[in-house]
Parts: sequence; structure tokens; C-alpha cells
Amino acid sequence: MANVAAIIGGGVIGGGWAARFMLMGWTVRVFDPDPEAQRKIGEVIANARAALPGLSDVALPDEGRLSFHDTMSEAVEGAGWIQESVPERLDLKHRVFATLQQHCPTDAIIGSSTSGFKPSELQQGSSRPEQIVVAHPFNPVYLLPLIELVPSPANPPQLIARAKDILTGIGCYPLHVRKEIDAHIADRFLEAVWREALWLIKDGIATTEEIDNAIRYGFGLRWAQMGLFETYRIAGGEAGMRHFIEQFGPCLSWPWTKLMDVPDLTDDLIDAVADQSDAQSGAFSIRELERIRDNNLVSILRGLKAQNWGAGKLLNAQDKRISRLPERLSDIADLSQPILTVDRAVPVDWTDYNGHMNEARYLQAFSDATDRFMALVGVDSDYISGGASFFTAETHIRHIDEVHAGTRISVKSQCLTAEGKRLHLFHQMFDGARLLATAEQMLIHVSLGTRRSSLPGSEVAARMATVQAAHAPLERPAGAGAAIGVRPA
Ligand SMILES: NC(=O)c1ccc[n+]([C@@H]2O[C@H](COP(=O)([O-])OP(=O)(O)OC[C@H]3O[C@@H](n4cnc5c(N)ncnc54)[C@H](O)[C@@H]3O)[C@@H](O)[C@H]2O)c1
Repeated sequence: MANVAAIIGGGVIGGGWAARFMLMGWTVRVFDPDPEAQRKIGEVIANARAALPGLSDVALPDEGRLSFHDTMSEAVEGAGWIQESVPERLDLKHRVFATLQQHCPTDAIIGSSTSGFKPSELQQGSSRPEQIVVAHPFNPVYLLPLIELVPSPANPPQLIARAKDILTGIGCYPLHVRKEIDAHIADRFLEAVWREALWLIKDGIATTEEIDNAIRYGFGLRWAQMGLFETYRIAGGEAGMRHFIEQFGPCLSWPWTKLMDVPDLTDDLIDAVADQSDAQSGAFSIRELERIRDNNLVSILRGLKAQNWGAGKLLNAQDKRISRLPERLSDIADLSQPILTVDRAVPVDWTDYNGHMNEARYLQAFSDATDRFMALVGVDSDYISGGASFFTAETHIRHIDEVHAGTRISVKSQCLTAEGKRLHLFHQMFDGARLLATAEQMLIHVSLGTRRSSLPGSEVAARMATVQAAHAPLERPAGAGAAIGVRPA
């Protein structure tokens, strides 16, 4: 089946699913009876376009087509994945499944975004229960990788395996919940924290803002990268988890939680929460808050990417899966032209106060291009750990046109010399056909043992010679060898 996703219900969550599938190259077909659905989804997709491509260090697949349909039967036509995200009411979800199962392909996977219903509850009364599974996402669906994939015994293992493959393919992390349970795994935690927070407000201990500060300045940051148990293991000191449990275990029987008791949601409590929240965040519209949230998430996730840890490790794996950059010289169809060495969107954390790409990031993009070129001639991490590498001796960057956050940039790299110890490259950065910047770099091959220049190994030398011969007939680029301040005519 072609990569077609049907989105049934396009609110906050359905819109996020639509954006993720579409930006990952799937054709997306939406059914939502709300006359405003098209506008709302359009706004979510605009936010997703500003955020998701910047999370990646390679270009995303070409965007899939998005269409809106008046009937469910039309929307599910040819769909391989159907995501139900209608309001959280069991009777409504049952009616929706009944209609869509009359029309959808029998081998399509029907994922439900339900926050709390068990898959066996969703499957009740269905003609093909085996087709329906919980695929519970987190808002914003286009940025957060976690999907709780909850099957019931009715779902065959092949369907679960296929669901995992598809979710992984669109950059998600399917957490296979081994036994169905109300509210799955993550919402149980959120529910517990929310209950405690409501008590703290009701008892006058803290305001909404103080509670948020208690989370985001402290344990929220720890949770974002290590979760609960890995964090507590460290908190136990050298004696680790066992010591932590011995030290803090007894507190579990002290009155440190109101968890068994739920505050009455009286008008007074609701007013207090709503008023405090207005005072805390009312200066921003919801769309502004969403953009602030997305930029914060992208920055945190990119930080984790640099450490190849937690959610950042998932993102690195996804970049590797979707990258269209050549890995080996043999991947390049036409070696007689400059080589594509960077193809990516400019992320938010690469821009300065003018909204322009920061100067240092030009060097970053060009040095990524050089790294890719080096890897293509065989100077990869294995070669470098074998004791030799290229060191950059000189760089000359020319800034030619403006570059903004979100711009998809590509770098084409031309080899001017690749001989002996010298690798002389000329990179050109483009937005489509528009030239944005160039960089000329001279690199010297170095022994990491002596820290002195040295000749490369024979395989690397042979690959350098191949590229040099292929690029020799190319015209010398305008600007190559120019001194600073000299513009080519
Ligand atoms: N909001 C969250 O943070 C969140 C997170 C994870 C999962 N969920 C789950 O996602 C689902 C949707 O929640 P939401 O927050 O997006 O709600 P929402 O109210 O924002 O969106 C629901 C959408 O469904 C549409 N709809 C109503 N009846 C329909 C029908 N018969 N057919 C097709 N569309 C219909 C509505 O017009 C609306 O656009 C719920 O099951 C919820 O539990 C929500």
C-alpha cells in the first residue's frame, strides 16, 4: 500500500498527526465535520513546518499531499494507516470505527489516539477487532516522539510489528505497552502529578506559576533526559538504587502525597486555577505559546541530540534513516559535478537577534560539508580512531545573501585539489538556486600521534585522486582564491 494516512478528527491531536505524516512524506487525507477544521489544521501545519525540519540535521522527505474530505468513506480510501482522534467518548469512537471499517482496506491499521480507553474497550462490537489498536501520542504530536502502542490479545503480532515499523518510519518511538490498562503508562503519571498540583492550589500552598517553576527549574529538566529511575539511581550516590530506596522508601508511608484523595473541583477551585493561569500566561495567545513551546522543545531536543542521549538519540537515528546525502563515493551518480554535502533546514537555535543565521553557523554548515567530504574519501570515524585525520588550516567564508530560520539550505562541494597532504575545497551554499554563501577551505592531512602533517593512507589517497580527476574539468568557481574584500566581477 502507498504511504497514505487517513486522519479522522483533526483537532489538536489529529492536526498534529496530519502534520507529522505529511512532513514525513505521507499523503494525508482528513475527515473532520467541523467547518473550521481546514483552517485549524492549516495553523498546526504552519507551526509544524517551522519546528520539525529544524530538529533534523538532514532534509526531511518531500512533503506529502494533504486533502480534506466530506465523508469518512472517501478519506480512508487506499489508506495504510488510519488515525482516529475524535473526542474522548467511547460511544462516539465505536460509531466512528463502525463507519470507517465498512469502507477502509481490511489490512489498514487503525490507531486510536485515546488518552485512556483500553484497546479491548475500543474493539467492542467491531467486525474486525484485530485491526484496531491504541496509538497514544503526546502534544505536539509532530515534535514529541513517544507513541504508546497498546494492543489487546485480539491484535496479531504481525500487525503490531507493522505498526512499530510505520511509527518508527515517521520519526516516532513506539512504546509497546505489554498489558492494556486504563490511561496506559504516561497519563497515569500525569494524572498523579495533576492531582497533587490541584491540592497544592486548593490548600493555598502554591500558585499555578510556582508549581510550574517547581517542575521546569528542577526535576522537569532531569526527567527530560533520564526519566525517573535513572535519575534516582544517581541520587542514591555511589551505592545507587538500593541506597536510594533504603533512604527514601520509608517516606512512601509518610503523608507526602494526597494521591488517594481527589480535591472537589468546586467553582472556587476552578476559578482559582483559571485566574492564576490567566495572570501567569494571559499575555500570550495560545498560538504564541505553542510557538514558544515548540522553539523551547526544539532547543532542548537539539541539545540532547548533540549528546546522543535520550530523545536526542532517537532523532539522530531518524536522521540517519531519512538522510539522502551520499555515504560513499559509489552512492554518487554523477561525480563530475560538485557533491551534495549538506541538505537541511536552518534550525531556530542557529539564528541571531536579526532572525538571520548566525555567522558561526555558516562555519558549522561548511564544516559539516567538509566532514561529509572527508568521510566520502574514507576519512571517517574509524580512520580517525586509527590515528590520522585532516586539520583545517584556512577558511574564507563569503556571505552573499540572507539566510533565515527554516530555510532549506544545501551545500555543494567542489574539490580544487586533493593531492598529497592537501585537501582544498570550495563549498557553495544554496537555497534552491539562490547562492547564499561560499567557503573555501584548505585542509592538511595530519598524524594524530605526532600532530604533524603526514601522507594519507593508500585507500584515502586513491579516493582523493578519483574525486580530483572527476572535478578537474569543472570551471574554477568565481571567488575561489579571492582575498578578503575582493568580490568577483
Ligand atoms: N489534547 C491532548 O493533549 C491529547 C493527547 C493525547 C491524546 N489525546 C486524545 O486525542 C483525541 C482527540 O483529542 P483532541 O484534544 O484532539 O480533541 P479536539 O476536541 O481538539 O479534536 C477533536 C476533533 O474531532 C472532530 N470530530 C468530532 N466528531 C467527529 C466525527 N464523528 N468524525 C470525525 N471527527 C470528529 C472535532 O470536530 C474536532 O476537530 C481524544 O481521544 C484524546 O483523548 C488528546
